Parts: sequence; structure tokens; C-alpha cells
Amino acid sequence: MNNELRLSKSCIGEEEKKAVKKVLDIGFFGMGKEVKDFENELSNFFGRRATCVVNGTAALQLALQAAGIERGDEVLVQSITYVASFQSITANGAKPIACDIDSDSLTIDLEDARKRLTSKTKAIMPVHYAGGVGNLDDIYKFAKDNNLRIIEDAAHAFGTLYKDNLIGSFGDISCFSFDGIKNITSGEGGCIVSDDEDVIKSIQDFRLLGVQGDTHKRFSGGRSWDPDVKNQGWRYHMSDLMAAIGRVQLANFNYHKKSRQDLAKKYFELVKSIPSVSAFNHNYDEVVPHIFVVKIAENIDRKKLIELLKKEGIPAGIHYKPNHTLSFFNQTHISLKKTEEIFPKILTLPLHPDLTKEDITYICSKLEEALKNAKESSN
Ligand SMILES: Cc1ncc(COP(=O)(O)O)c(C=O)c1O
Repeated sequence: MNNELRLSKSCIGEEEKKAVKKVLDIGFFGMGKEVKDFENELSNFFGRRATCVVNGTAALQLALQAAGIERGDEVLVQSITYVASFQSITANGAKPIACDIDSDSLTIDLEDARKRLTSKTKAIMPVHYAGGVGNLDDIYKFAKDNNLRIIEDAAHAFGTLYKDNLIGSFGDISCFSFDGIKNITSGEGGCIVSDDEDVIKSIQDFRLLGVQGDTHKRFSGGRSWDPDVKNQGWRYHMSDLMAAIGRVQLANFNYHKKSRQDLAKKYFELVKSIPSVSAFNHNYDEVVPHIFVVKIAENIDRKKLIELLKKEGIPAGIHYKPNHTLSFFNQTHISLKKTEEIFPKILTLPLHPDLTKEDITYICSKLEEALKNAKESSN
């Protein structure tokens, strides 16, 4: 068993360290050969063009910008997501429209989203929560019927299959995060995958302050000394240091994938027999879980449960406080029935490839005990 249990962890080895050292020794940390190679390898992985950026939030922001989302537009997005989804929308001057969730998958509730359509709705952002995917076919049909762009927030879902197809290998625009604790990491980082050549071309400029053609110049070892800039751009490109880590992680992805899937299967099997808690029903041969979330019974005091677990050396988390309740987004007046019902019951247990099955067994036995002592009636 591990000595210190962590909720999530950046899991890297000697190969990543060697790859970083190689870039350090070369002494070029900008966007060059490593990023170009990482993009090519990701493009082979997905079977279509991948463009790397500085993080997953930037991937979403630039994808929305390239899809033409602008001030006054509305984007449908589930309220239970990392605040990055919402901020990427407001960063474009658009309004995130908080939607309810499907209680089984914690992904966007399309029926609720449908009710929130207006003439200003220009896009939908399905979030592949915890690595799982809702009914994407229905979402794509809904988007087609209503002329919406689809920006998939696939930050949690690197490697997940939907109906035998890799997330990112099909659809409109998919965005991934490679931050330190994701299914693969490049330290920080992210990528956008799409077939839409205009989108990719725009993002290649947007990520380098809007300097036209600078991606091509940098990949051939040069710079644009006589540039033109026609759009708002950002300094959101990936560095060779990050790409060096990402390339090793991608090459070893099968190991990361199998560890996460095996650990989640173990959790699923053990949680089934623990009273007052249930696991969400994913097929862990298809889903590559980024986090492992359980649902606790109504009579459990979650705060107390978290404290009891902490005393046993088990960190637990809450992913995520609904964004419509956050002051900045100014949507506290709306009511999202399922979101409000489920949010107080979700709890995230430790998951990362450095955990062992023995760790999961330990966590579950302590969880069972803690649940008994966290019943509200026992206060
Ligand atoms: C659902 C979701 N979307 C977007 C992001 C943003 O990714 P990053 O942290 O790389 O900016 C995250 C990161 O945790 C996330 O969980």
C-alpha cells in the first residue's frame, strides 16, 4: 500500500525526466520540434488534426473563438463542471447558459438544454464528466437541428471510447487538457482536435498572438519578422518542455489507461456492497476515468464524512460546485432540479495510476466505516 494517499497525482517516471533534460540541454524552450512532433503523434492517435496549446482552458477558449462565438452569443453547458468550461465562454464575451444534468452520467440533460434554447444560442459544450460521455448522438442531432456548433469539453476523457470510436476522433471540435493530473499530462497543456481546417488554421494563429502563419514559421525553426495580425490573439502556445513530457505520456498511454480502468473496476466492485453509497455505472472497458465519483445517501453528512476519511489519511473531493451558483455568472435565480438534488451527494475518491488495488480496498473499508459514523441521525 502507498504511504501517503493522494486524491490525484502527476504520475511520471524516468523517461519523462530524461525527455525534459534533453530539451533543457538543447536550450530552446519555445514552440519547436517537440511540439510539432507531439502534434503529429496526437494527430495519428486521433486520426485527425490536433493543435496543442498551453492548457485545456485555452483549448476551449480558442475553439469557441475559432467557431465564431462572440459577444452576445449564448452557449449551453452543464452547471456541474470545472469553472474552466464557463470561463472559456465568458472569455469570448459570450454567456454560458447553465443546464441541468442527467442523474446517471452527470452529463448535460438535453431535455433541459432544449428548454434554454434562444435565438442567441450558438453552441453547446457537452462536458465528458469524469471521463464518461452522455448520449452524444442525441446531442449532435440536437445541434444539427438547431444549427449549433459543438465544442466538446473532453478534458476528462482522453482515451475514452464512445460506441467504439475514440473521443476526439469524430464530431465538430474536441478539447483536451493535459494538466498534471489528467489521463495524460504535459505538465500543463491541452489540445484541440477537429476536421475543420478553418478552425485549426485560426487556432494556429490565435495561439501565437494572432500573428499570421507564425506556427509554420516556428515549426521550421524561424520567426515571422514581417508579420500581419488580423485577429485578437493570445500567448497560448505550448512549449517544447511540456511537449517532451506529453510525448512520453502518450507513448505510454496504454499503461495509464489500464491502471485507471482497473482501479475504477475495483472501486465499482467494492462500492456495490457498501451501504449508503453507490457508484455511477460506467463501462470501464470504454471509459478512461479521470476521477472516481460516488453518490452518498441523503442521510449522510458529507462534510463529516470527508473529515472522517481525512483522519484515516484518505483525501476526498467534490467535483464540482454548480457554476450557476457562482457570483460571477449571475445565474443564482435559475433552478436546476437534478443538479441541486445531486450536488450535495457527490464525493470524489482518490484515483491515479500510482495507486494499487490494495489502496482501493483500504479506501473502501475505511469509507464503509466512515459512512456509518457520518449518518446525520448519529450526530
Ligand atoms: C471539465 C474541465 N474542463 C476544462 C478544464 C481545463 O483544463 P486546464 O486545467 O488544463 O486548463 C478542466 C481541468 O481540470 C476540467 O476539469
